[in-house]
Amino acid sequence: MGRRRSSSSSFLSLFIFLVSFTSLPIPSLSSDTDTFVFGGCTQQKYTQNSPYESNLNSLLTSLVNSATYSSYNNYTITASTPQDTLYGLYQCRGDLSMPDCATCVARSVTQFGVLCPQTCGGAVQLQGCYVKYDNATFLGVEDKTVVLKKCGPSIGYDDDAMSRRDAVLGALASSGGPYRVGGSGQVQGVAQCVGDLSSGECQDCVSEAIGRLKSDCGGAVYGDMFLAKCYARYQTGSAHSIYSKAHHDKSTTDGEKTFAIIIGLLTGVALLIIFLTFIRKVFEGPDAYLHAPALENGLMVDYL
Ligand SMILES: *[C@@H]1O[C@H](CO)[C@@H](O)[C@H](O)[C@H]1NC(C)=O
Ligand SMILES: *[C@@H]1O[C@H](CO)[C@@H](O)[C@H](O)[C@H]1NC(C)=O
Repeated sequence: MGRRRSSSSSFLSLFIFLVSFTSLPIPSLSSDTDTFVFGGCTQQKYTQNSPYESNLNSLLTSLVNSATYSSYNNYTITASTPQDTLYGLYQCRGDLSMPDCATCVARSVTQFGVLCPQTCGGAVQLQGCYVKYDNATFLGVEDKTVVLKKCGPSIGYDDDAMSRRDAVLGALASSGGPYRVGGSGQVQGVAQCVGDLSSGECQDCVSEAIGRLKSDCGGAVYGDMFLAKCYARYQTGSAHSIYSKAHHDKSTTDGEKTFAIIIGLLTGVALLIIFLTFIRKVFEGPDAYLHAPALENGLMVDYL
């Protein structure tokens, strides 16, 4: 008698636990690829409903469309007057899939409308992509102007983290290509050039960014150095994300689904047990346990 009460009340508390657990919102680990990093606009503005505006619209449309199949592209919209000729490019981070690249470029373009209303030129950097347009050409021109420098708080006396950081930055500087990643322990680094640079120019730009990171962000837990045509970033922990989690999203979502299904099954089993316990109580009366020891020690009790 006492045994049955204790086992059914423990089922009940298990059930309550499971229900409150499933009703917790499962955090959506959405990618931070589209998070805003910086933006800038020219002071000069174009007039509304001008050829400039329609050229800009076709330029931005071309950029967004191109980002569905290429991680870098440039466009020139030639007009009858040089002032109305527009140049534009975008560069997605090297690890982005084409759909993520297209989404990122589209988000950047919508940012222009907010940040740079009717300005002749503008540039937006999101975590996953960079987009720039202007009526003065900048295509194929190396530019190492510091656009954004951000150093995290000082790391303190962690020599190990700092030597790892220097090793990661060194590896970034010496590896080739427009997109570079490296890591050691908790330290991660990433560098990206805009695709209009030659490999020599990219190397020069990345070296400059890394040199500035080392000198300006001495003992910082993270550092971001965005130059006009390349950037280098590092982090020594997981707090400041320099990477998108986009490429992990699928497996995380699958894991969450599996988890939700398991919780759902367990809830179902708990409900069934409570139901059976209740039914048995109703139909067999209070002394049923004495007559049905097999059920009491049955499969579901042992299973849970
Ligand atoms: C860009 O367009 C603005 C407005 O039409 C004009 O004043 C400016 O001279 C143009 N710049 C260039 C480099 O053509
Ligand atoms: C711009 O795009 C064209 C066509 O895709 C390409 O041939 C050219 O090299 C690009 N220019 C720069 C500076 O990237």
